[in-house]
Order: sequence, then structure tokens, then C-alpha cells
Amino acid sequence: MALKNEKLVVFANLEHEWVPCGQLTLEEQGPQLVASQFAYGVNYLKRANALEVDPVSLSIANRAAVSGQLLLPTASLPFFGGIRDCAPDAWGRRVIEAKRKVPPNSLPESDYLLDAGSERIGALDIRRQMTDAPSAGVSAVHDLAYLMEAADRIQEGLAIPERLEAIFLVGSGLGGARPKASIRDVDGVLWIAKFSNPNDAFDIPEIECATLLLAQKAGLHVPPVKTIMLGDRRIMLIRRFDRYWAREGEQNTTDFDVFDTVAGHQKVEHRMGFVSGLTLAACDEMDSKNKSYGDLAAAIRRYCHPGVIRSDSEELFKRMVFNILVSNDDDHLRNHGFVWDPCISGWRLSPLYDVLPRASIASERFLHLAIGNQGRLATIDNALSAAGSFMLPQKKACECISEVWRVTRQWKTYFDEFKVSAAEIEKISPAFRHIDDVSSPALRALLP
Ligand SMILES: Nc1ncnc2c1ncn2[C@@H]1O[C@H](COP(=O)(O)OP(=O)(O)OP(=O)(O)O)[C@@H](O)[C@H]1O
Ligand SMILES: [Mg+2]
Repeated sequence: MALKNEKLVVFANLEHEWVPCGQLTLEEQGPQLVASQFAYGVNYLKRANALEVDPVSLSIANRAAVSGQLLLPTASLPFFGGIRDCAPDAWGRRVIEAKRKVPPNSLPESDYLLDAGSERIGALDIRRQMTDAPSAGVSAVHDLAYLMEAADRIQEGLAIPERLEAIFLVGSGLGGARPKASIRDVDGVLWIAKFSNPNDAFDIPEIECATLLLAQKAGLHVPPVKTIMLGDRRIMLIRRFDRYWAREGEQNTTDFDVFDTVAGHQKVEHRMGFVSGLTLAACDEMDSKNKSYGDLAAAIRRYCHPGVIRSDSEELFKRMVFNILVSNDDDHLRNHGFVWDPCISGWRLSPLYDVLPRASIASERFLHLAIGNQGRLATIDNALSAAGSFMLPQKKACECISEVWRVTRQWKTYFDEFKVSAAEIEKISPAFRHIDDVSSPALRALLP
């Protein structure tokens, strides 16, 4: 297959205006991306509030050094992490393929990038020409029943009739593998709707929502999340954390509890840059399994704003402990994210998302990412062995463990409070671990 050079324009949304950010060149061979190049616009770099595409390959910390330069991805990768993060992942690709009526993964990367639409995750957009307007956003409050029906059809490989075509607009920009769509509520606030799949062994939206709420009880940062019923199917709604709403001229809305900012009709929507853990770890998807929470902690120290390094490292440590206690072993690098907070002009850990317990009977379990000196083994001793990587003295790390355990040990009470049915609690019960099963007596003796 012949090599083809695609020249695309990257736009950034700064203070709710789209501005050209730079030119991206993709060298492609059929569906294979062979190489990428990027050059920031010279005028873009003169903007005080310019957002970097990613802090690893396309940092603008030293603007003079990058101005007018043709930049290449780090670690000889064929793509820039920050650009990959604006591309749809498995689900968005299935939606685009359904729209184009083509087989899975058959399109060149440039097509997926262009078709993801302007409502994609983060603050960037990719268009073919400098003069191209943004694609239609998620403006209407789309009928969720239609979107769910369309999502079911896409999963079954069925054609999408005209009356269900809204999914092409609101489903194409999203990552992850599970069926989902972006929706706006009557106040104009943007959410991700995560649907169930009729073949699911348990009520995933219900359990995911309850687990996120449990994490919040354990002191972790979680976006507003809830479920609604549509007929006999449940849908989880999680508020987009890469958006915030402020009155005109109002700046100070992003202090992390930003995520509790209430939107309103007189407020303007702002977008926050997003990069995945995969990008900050500077690796390819296939390499995610060889990485560790320590690598993410190192990325926090290297790329996040100095003012959040300590608190984000502690939060990440607690997320790791939480994942051990609930057997969330889908903790791959794309399930960790970072946002650009305009308030501190820096990167910080995003709120928590995609946490799903896995029911298992194994006494020895593993997470996706390595934890401590026993690799991926999901034990609290293994987590404590890595405390230093999170800049936590042993005493502080033990306090963090206790804080998380005190809440997860009462998961059944909380799930009951969150109105999870007894049948679903029973099904997911084998996922939750008692600390005695995942720690040594010597470790437990250290806990406050
Ligand atoms: N609340 C949110 N706000 C903004 N972006 C989000 C939010 N939740 C998830 N995302 C983004 O959307 C992507 C897909 O979401 P999520 O990971 O929940 O889906 P999934 O289909 O369950 O994923 P997986 O394939 O890992 O199981 C995430 O990787 C993240 O980039
Ligand atoms: Mg995910």
C-alpha cells in the first residue's frame, strides 16, 4: 500500500474560542499510522494562555525552542500522545465505521481523527483546513432511548436507520470500549451516558456508579455520577470533567472542586485539555501492561503543576489501594487521566473514572499496572512497599490505606444506601476483598 501524507490542522479551545494551534502531518499506509510531525503556529505560541498538545512530546515550556520547529514524537513512537488522546478509541471507532459502513479498524488514522467531531474529549480539535468550522456540538438534549437503541445496533453490527443517526454526532468522539454517548441536560451540562449491553452478566451501570460513589466516600475525587432507568435498562451518567461552566469573565472556577461547579443558563462552557496516563508514560497501548503506578507517580512529579504534586501523588496511591480492595483490574493507562487546569496553568490528575469491580474466586489477584516490589500482585503489602514512589512516609501511607479500607469494608452498607439491589450486591460480592486476605498481620499492626 502506498504511503500517504495527510496534513491536518489542530485547533485549541482557549477561553471558549477555537484558535488554530498548529499543523499536524500524518504519514499513513492504509490503516497504519507510520509517522507524525507537528509544528506549533508561531502566532499561537505568542498567546499567554496557549495550551500544549501534550507535555511529553509537544511541551511549550520553552516556547522559543519550539517556535518554527518541526517536532517529532518522543521515544520514536509513530504518534503524539496528545493527538492520540483526541482520537476516538474502540467505541468511537465502531460508531464512525457504522456511519461510513466500513469494517472495524479499516480507516486511516486521519479519518478517525477528523470524524471524532469537535465535542471530543479535551480542548483540542482536528480539522482538515484552517478555514473549517467546528462540527456540530452536542446541542440538543437527545432522546436517550434512541441513543441506546442505536448503541445496541452498533454492538450487534446492524445498520443505523435515519431516525437513530444522532449517535453519529454524540458517540463518535468517545474513548473506551463500552457503548456510550455524550448528552446535554436541560441546564446545558455535558455528561457521558454509559449504556449497558444486553449480554452483561450483571448490571454494570449500577455497579460502576455505586463503586464510584464508594470511592468518593473514601475521599477520592469523583465527578458527579448517577444512574437513570430507561424501561428496564439502567444507564450511568457521569459529568464531563473536561468541561466547566463559568460566568463571562469569571476565572476562578477550576479549583479542583471545580467538578462540583454547577452549570447554569448564564454560564459559558469552557474546555480543559486532557491527556491520558498512556501519554504521560510515553508509551504505546501494548506497553501499558509493563508500566506501574510508580511510573504514573513519576509522571506526576515530572509534568504536573508543582502545587499539586504532593496531593495528586497521595490521591494516586489511594486509587491504587482502592483498586486492590475492589478488584478493579482494568486499571490500564488510558483509565488514568490528567487535565490542564487553567486556574493553576498546569496539569493535574483528573477525577476518577472507569472503576469496575471484577467478581473473582481467585485468592491471588493482579491489577493491570504493577504496584510495588511484588509486581502486579494485588496486596496491600505490595502497595505499601511502593509508598516512597508516591513521596509518602510509611506512617502517612498507612493512614491512606486505613482511610480507604474503613470505607470499602462497609461497601455493602453503602451499596444498600445507593439503592443497589440485593441480587446485584450478591453477584458482585466476590470482587470485594477483606484486608485480612490481602495483607500480612505485620502490615495490619502498622495501621492506625
Ligand atoms: N467524566 C468524564 N469526563 C471526561 N472524559 C471522560 C469521563 N469519563 C471517561 N472519560 C474519557 O472517556 C474515555 C472512555 O471512558 P471509560 O473509560 O469510562 O469507558 P469504558 O468504555 O468503560 O473504557 P474501557 O474500555 O477502559 O473499559 C476515558 O478513557 C476518558 O478518556
Ligand atoms: Mg476506560
